[in-house]
Amino acid sequence: MADEIGLFEAMHTQRAIRYFKPDPVPEELLTKLLEAASKAPSGTNRQMWHFIVVRDDGLRAELAGIYRRAGRNALPNLQWLQDANPRILRSATHLIEHMDEAPALLLACIEHGGSTNLTTGSSIYPAVQNILLAARGLGLGSVLTTFHKQYEDEVRALLGIPDNVETAALLPIGYPAEGVGYGATRRKPLDEVTHWDGWTQSD
Ligand SMILES: Cc1cc2nc3c(=O)[nH]c(=O)nc-3n(C[C@H](O)[C@H](O)[C@H](O)COP(=O)(O)O)c2cc1C
Repeated sequence: MADEIGLFEAMHTQRAIRYFKPDPVPEELLTKLLEAASKAPSGTNRQMWHFIVVRDDGLRAELAGIYRRAGRNALPNLQWLQDANPRILRSATHLIEHMDEAPALLLACIEHGGSTNLTTGSSIYPAVQNILLAARGLGLGSVLTTFHKQYEDEVRALLGIPDNVETAALLPIGYPAEGVGYGATRRKPLDEVTHWDGWTQSD
């Protein structure tokens, strides 16, 4: 297992990993990810989350197939990345075609009372972020993905997910492929997005 890293190092270097070794991830580590997820906050601490871990080869291939179809549909709208950030486009395209190479696919879901909105999402995405950070800490790779949402009903049918549960994110989990690693994330400078004591214009 990777040496433990500090919380802030994890936050600063947790970046999208979309290339995986086929090596299985020990169940003990998957359980650690789920434990981290289960420590996240949720509205009134109701913890309506559910986590489906797909390791079965057949199911993984089917789920990856849905993701592939959805991703291919989305690709024409992502061509602007060719100039803006070709690395993301290349890496996202790779995952569209190779999601099944990750030995585990984790679907984070949220149970709801009939409809969902931003507030519903805010009770599941903190758990997803905990999974991403825990994966970083354990030397595992992952990335939050949502393309599969185009075929939400198919995903639900494949895995027997009830109608009052919505999938929030599909996370491939595995060891990063050779030559692929974590590193400092590139984000907007803080002063572009921070407003002290009310909205201030930055130029
Ligand atoms: C709401 C959301 C949806 C995303 N959906 C996808 C997706 O469907 N496929 C994918 O490859 N990456 C997806 N991503 C990953 C982002 O592209 C990634 O987090 C972003 O480019 C930053 O990458 P970095 O952490 O490596 O800098 C998604 C991220 C978020 C937060």
